[in-house]
Amino acid sequence: MNIFEKKDLLYGGDYNPEQWLGYDGIWEQDIQLMKKAGVNCVSVGIFSWALIEREEGVFDFSWLDTVIENLYKNGISVILATPSGARPPWLSQKYPEVLRVREDRVKHIYGKRHNHCFTSPVYREKTAIIDEKLSKRYGHHPAVIMWHISNELSGDCHCPRCQERFREWLKAKYDNDIEKLNHAWWGAFWSHHYTEWSQIESPSSIGEIGVHAHVLDWKRFSNDMMIEFYNHEVSAVKKYSDLPVTTNFMEIEEINYHKFEKYVDIVSWDCYPRWHNDKESVYDTAVWTAFHHDLFRSMKQKPFLMMESTPSLVNWNDTNKLKAPGLNILASMQAIAHGSEGVLYFQMRKSRGSFEKFHGALIDHDGSGETRVFGEAAQLGRILKDNAKLKGGSSDSQVAVIYDYENGWAIDELCGLKNDRGYKETCIKHYKALKGSGINVDVIGPGADFSRYKLISAPMLYMVPDSTAKRIREYIAGGGIFVATYLTSYVDENDLCHLGGFPGGLKDVFGIWNEEIDSIYGENAVIANGSEYTVTDFCERIHPDKDTEVIATYKYDFYAGEPAVTRHGYNKGMAYYIGARTGVDYLHRLYGEAMQKAGVLVPDVTLGKGISMTKRGEYTFLMNFSDKAAAAVSNGVNFTLEPYGFKII
Ligand code: GAL
Repeated sequence: MNIFEKKDLLYGGDYNPEQWLGYDGIWEQDIQLMKKAGVNCVSVGIFSWALIEREEGVFDFSWLDTVIENLYKNGISVILATPSGARPPWLSQKYPEVLRVREDRVKHIYGKRHNHCFTSPVYREKTAIIDEKLSKRYGHHPAVIMWHISNELSGDCHCPRCQERFREWLKAKYDNDIEKLNHAWWGAFWSHHYTEWSQIESPSSIGEIGVHAHVLDWKRFSNDMMIEFYNHEVSAVKKYSDLPVTTNFMEIEEINYHKFEKYVDIVSWDCYPRWHNDKESVYDTAVWTAFHHDLFRSMKQKPFLMMESTPSLVNWNDTNKLKAPGLNILASMQAIAHGSEGVLYFQMRKSRGSFEKFHGALIDHDGSGETRVFGEAAQLGRILKDNAKLKGGSSDSQVAVIYDYENGWAIDELCGLKNDRGYKETCIKHYKALKGSGINVDVIGPGADFSRYKLISAPMLYMVPDSTAKRIREYIAGGGIFVATYLTSYVDENDLCHLGGFPGGLKDVFGIWNEEIDSIYGENAVIANGSEYTVTDFCERIHPDKDTEVIATYKYDFYAGEPAVTRHGYNKGMAYYIGARTGVDYLHRLYGEAMQKAGVLVPDVTLGKGISMTKRGEYTFLMNFSDKAAAAVSNGVNFTLEPYGFKII
């Protein structure tokens, strides 16, 4: 059986029994408590390499055989990991080439995890050997339902071999023509004109970090090396097994997962919101979380898997707050509402020593199953069991927000404007303004199929290659409603500024020319329909064409009275341009109007403070992300939700 054939929602998480070898009775206690909590699936082997291959070439699978067999006998499925996320000390000692070199050219010594060189032939050889053995041994075991490749792949390596691979990658990209590279990298600037490929090095704080296209190419290259390494491991496990494969994605901005998504059978991600932090409300943390669930769900337009979360606290924040009673159940059901096929935790049992000994777990050091966390987790186990009907259910959205990783890299790189440009935060703000209406919202990459949507929001889409401009134009011409903001289409895919005025390649579509952008201290305001809305950070001075409607104007500064927000009919569709950074209040209002024009079906609901609404299949979830009871009215029916309560309608 594989993960797609399982009838129940998955419940469980990372399980590290190798930490308890020699502790009699612990494994039995684990199973007994896991069953009591309703656990039906665990991820095993993520950090097991050193205890499977204690010496090079000497393998001992006996303990893992016992663990997997016991889990199977007790009805608990296994997501089996390849152990490449952390290596045994002997490997680094004998083959130092597997260790990464940092951007400042300092070579790592053995330690921590997740820090191997992706291009190292030795590391690839050693991972393939152990992966094939695992696959041969367990690839057809009835307990095993999926492969979990490595763990949280990320990072880059600047060793001489990676430099060589980078040059090869560049040659392939620029058709072996160094003049093409010089043009893309704007090589005449500061005399950076290359004449030999061998002159090129990866970006470094002791060398070059200011050539934007160079940095972008390095990030793209490193992304490709990570995917290449992942695929190398996939081939190894596929040798003896046809089980589905995944690897756990993260919230981070450094990896372009839109390039990765096609290589996994199910998108999975590790979900660690900073619940109860001192900077935002629980509702806002829930919006952040929902945005990420929708980002990962939208990648394949299919259910995803929340591969990790914590049942209580984490151990790596500045202040590690407990989840308030009820919040773990609510946050877990939020994942299900947005399309997760289960709730998986890091971790089943707290480790006794080392770095993560105070990280939340299902089973605490007391080992009793009598804790508050365990009690709530067991309650969640029953809820999930009762809601198996949700598994496989999809979500339909008529509206999407574009979030483009590489665009974020380019915005981070640019020198000027304001230091804190907040690309992702802005996408989340627009998402929040849309989501507040109770609709489902997809979060898509720039290459997604636009034709599925009636309305697309593209905050700060600064990097717009000609091909994307063409797709935006066609989408709007065909009847789509498109909302863009300040900083739209300034540069192409090589971070070269568009010539001929911004938004490059789309001036006629938006019916504006954006002449200049002001970065402001404090606040300005826009006036729309007689009401005033605060704006911060960025104000563009835009010139509307004759047939462009101005729907908001600036209140202050030397551009007071000038257009701030415009609307322009283009062929069958409509293009909005928001020239300044407005708050959610204004965005909510603007999107309300835009959705009406687009014919988006907005549910008839009034959501009390803290309530979020999402549909999965035919089920509607109302979730109260607040510590106070709150009310919602949906289609004329009143609902009252307990603090941190939820309802599935
Ligand atoms: C994840 C990681 C886990 C564990 C967890 C703690 O990033 O994959 O192994 O370290 O964090 O929150």
